[in-house]
Amino acid sequence: MRIRENVLISSLTTMRLGGQARYVIEIETIDDIAKAYNFAKEHNLPTWIMGGGANTLSHDEGFNGVILLNKLKGIQNIAQNDCAVTIRSMGGEKWDDLVQYTCDLGYSGIEALSLIPGTVGAAPVQNIGAYGQELAQVIKNVEAYDTQEGKIITLQKSEMKLGYRNTRFNHGKDAGRFFIIAITIVLQKKTLQPPFYNSLQRYIDQHQETDFSPQNIRRMVIEIRNSKLPDPDYIASAGSFFKNVRLSKDEADKLTDQGIPMWRNEDGTGKINSGWLIEQCGLSGKKMRGIRVSDKASLVLINEDAKSYADLDAARAEIIGAVAEKFGIVLEQEPVEMPKGAKS
Ligand code: EPU
Repeated sequence: MRIRENVLISSLTTMRLGGQARYVIEIETIDDIAKAYNFAKEHNLPTWIMGGGANTLSHDEGFNGVILLNKLKGIQNIAQNDCAVTIRSMGGEKWDDLVQYTCDLGYSGIEALSLIPGTVGAAPVQNIGAYGQELAQVIKNVEAYDTQEGKIITLQKSEMKLGYRNTRFNHGKDAGRFFIIAITIVLQKKTLQPPFYNSLQRYIDQHQETDFSPQNIRRMVIEIRNSKLPDPDYIASAGSFFKNVRLSKDEADKLTDQGIPMWRNEDGTGKINSGWLIEQCGLSGKKMRGIRVSDKASLVLINEDAKSYADLDAARAEIIGAVAEKFGIVLEQEPVEMPKGAKS
């Protein structure tokens, strides 16, 4: 267990904003978890769990508390039969390393989730999804340290309330309660079949691809993502900054005649591409207070040279305001916010 004091949170998050954290503890063994929570209790400080910091925003005041960084490593195949394999990965593994590992072995289920930034432990927190796959389709259980009970528990998929970017881990009374030690997923020994998710199918058609093996789907997804989304290792961003808009059947019916492109599900509920709404407001590629709306993916905000959280706040308000004024739709932010807490 490594304890560091007075660490700039901007060095821990891919958006690269935020003041100092009082303590940062790197969790390297399962025993470190209880020790770290005890440390926080002894110092009477709040805690915050972080993986790769790819979906976290922090404030200029910093955090007068203890950030726990998940560094638990290890990936194992724990069971298999003729058609499926069960894999357990520790939460501190890089998500994309797990995807690479499973694709190299030819297992299908998370290949379209290639190159999503962040850690394995963070994946169930927002139920990551891309190109037609979602973690919810393959996750079996998570092992977690329950901070409320002070013990290690296993949560089954049905106990995680997995929705679109919305789960028991990031919403409601249990948000922040569980430190995710490991996840177990079940993958298939088969290849995906067309039709694929829109942008992936377009790539397949254009390049006349016929190999749908996990390795090749991974290669294609990486190429599509690289052409559209900034690489957080080089460009400061938090991926999609806004959620797409989910509509009930009634809401979808009402908006249908307004010329807004919409995806309809079989049950009549709808989805609106928030990037399209932002584009229609003329904001694509625009820079506001050091924050640029990506011209390739308008849902993504890039921190070019924002000086503070206040800059981001102003840029966000301008975007949300413009979309609300034009369409009467209030965009919801995707990344989670650390609590404000001045470091004393
Ligand atoms: N859509 C469908 N079916 C399709 C294609 C698109 O329903 O076959 C819908 C989508 O659900 C969405 C809209 O059409 O409402 C636009 O989708 P698009 O693929 O253009 O991507 P996006 O909305 O810009 C989302 C995720 C990305 C993910 C891509 C690719 C969110 C907030 N963002 O972006 O995730 O990589 O789809 O699947 O859902 C992230 O979360 O950080 C992120 C980058």
